[in-house]
Amino acid sequence: MKRRVVRFTLNGEQREIAVYPNDLLLNVLREQESLTGTKYGCGIGECGACAVHVDGQPVLSCLKLAVAVEGCDVVTIEGLARDGELDVVQEAFLDHSAVQCGFCTPGMVMMGRALLDEKSAPTEDEVREHMRGQLCRCTGYAGIVRAVIDAGQREAGVEAGVAQ
Ligand code: FES
Ligand code: FES
Repeated sequence: MKRRVVRFTLNGEQREIAVYPNDLLLNVLREQESLTGTKYGCGIGECGACAVHVDGQPVLSCLKLAVAVEGCDVVTIEGLARDGELDVVQEAFLDHSAVQCGFCTPGMVMMGRALLDEKSAPTEDEVREHMRGQLCRCTGYAGIVRAVIDAGQREAGVEAGVAQ
C-alpha cells in the first residue's frame, strides 16, 4: 500500500502529512503529530475519548480516515487554548472539578465546546443529550455537565448560579 499526502489545517497551521489510505485520523494525530491529548479509548466509536473538531463539527477521530480530512480545518484539544488563555470550557472544567483521571477530559471538552459553538447557554437537558456518547469512568458526570452549563452561561454573559 502506498502513502499519499493529505493537506489540511491542524490547530491553525497548514500541514502536509503522508498517510496510508487506511490510517485513522486518531492514530495520525497521536503517532505522527505527537498530539496525544486526543485519547484512544475504545477505537470503535463508543466512548468519545477521541473527539476532535473537523470544520467546526465534533468528530470521532477513531472512525475517521486521515485521508478524509483533505482540505479540512482540524482542531484538537491542544489547539483550543488561544494565546496562552484556556478556553472557557477548559476553565469551567477546572472550576467545577470535572476532571479526575483526565482520560475522558479532552473528548468531553471538545464535545462541550462544539455544543456551545452551536447553542448559546444550553440547558442541562441539552448538555446531557449532546454529551450522551461521552463516557467517563471516574466522575459520575454531574461536574462535567455543570461545567458545560456554566461555560455556556459565562460565554453568554448570563448571571446564573450553577449548583456545585
Ligand atoms: S476511541 Fe473513539 S469513540 Fe472511543
Ligand atoms: S475523569 Fe477519568 S474517565 Fe473521566
